[in-house]
Amino acid sequence: RAEPLVLGIETSCDETGIGIVRGTRLLSNTIASSMDEHARYGGVVPEVAARAHLEALTPALRAAVADADIALDELDAIAVTSGPGLAGALMVGVGAAKALAVSLGKPIYAVNHLVGHVGADLLDASGGPGHAVELPTIALLVSGGHTSLLLVRDLVSDVQLLGETIDDAAGEAFDKVARVLGLPYPGGPQIDRVAAFGDPKAIRFPRGLTQPKDMEKHRYDFSFSGLKTAVARWVEQRQDAGEEVPVSDVAASFREAVVDVLITKALAACEDFGVPRLLLGGGVVANARVREVATERSARAGVALRIPALSLCTDNGAMIAALGAQLIMAGHEPSTLSFGADSTLPV
Ligand code: KG4
Ligand code: ZN
Repeated sequence: RAEPLVLGIETSCDETGIGIVRGTRLLSNTIASSMDEHARYGGVVPEVAARAHLEALTPALRAAVADADIALDELDAIAVTSGPGLAGALMVGVGAAKALAVSLGKPIYAVNHLVGHVGADLLDASGGPGHAVELPTIALLVSGGHTSLLLVRDLVSDVQLLGETIDDAAGEAFDKVARVLGLPYPGGPQIDRVAAFGDPKAIRFPRGLTQPKDMEKHRYDFSFSGLKTAVARWVEQRQDAGEEVPVSDVAASFREAVVDVLITKALAACEDFGVPRLLLGGGVVANARVREVATERSARAGVALRIPALSLCTDNGAMIAALGAQLIMAGHEPSTLSFGADSTLPV
């Protein structure tokens, strides 16, 4: 059977993503973000995100269809993120996907957002033919909403969650520390920018859940709230003493602590499971130091590193469509219309 033409809808956080793929070929990837609206709150506000999705969906859908140069009735299926994510935000996408599927008389596939991030690696951002994801692989997914480590043996039938953050997501920690340093939201790119001029060894900030006893119980889990508090305390002490805060050094040292933990744990998983492949995904992959350290240490460990184009790493509908196409090609039955949004959907 020919490669299926699938439209994917992603609304789990603050990006309204509509993507269209034919098999593993990317035809369009429209993203509208409500990030600006959340800026004054210093973080994503669920109610604001849901409302923004409602407004952005139809224009994004029109743009994606025009961009792909297809007609809606040519579609073979609709795929949609059903979780995990913000409940109200997910509901908007799920509702729209069902309405579209019913009105067009097309099958619908509910897709897991985290597995979608892995599916991003199927696509070529410039619209080339795409490729199979080399398996098995360890996947490290890091964004403002999640920090998860997966063992993927098969994209559609064998994905195992090894660990995740037990408190803040890594991107969230970047955003909170940026605030402490007086930098605007979203904090990740700001910290990255000022850290370039700082000394990553200036301050030794704690590496969460890396002590020997943590590595027994929480070997693949992450914790960033202690780090965030440590940075805030360090900054406060300087301010209370009337000293100037060396913003670049703090940013560089904080970034180094986050990156160290992320890559150490990801490569530990590669070694433990004898899997010589690591795939990165999520908005924090934009971080220059994440890419640098991942590249250096993977090479040293003999691990092949995959980093999809940034437009496919951040939340988007194309990765959801790509996973939908894989489900169809693997012969999976469509979802029944009774599925709902599940904010804590397991992989
Ligand atoms: O995947 P994404 O666009 O949206 C979701 O959170 O789902 O990721 C956004 C997050 C924000 O927390 C932002 O601060 C972080 O990714 N981020 C970065 C960088 N660029 C974006 N974190 C560190 N360094 C960056 N350069
Ligand atoms: Zn995501």
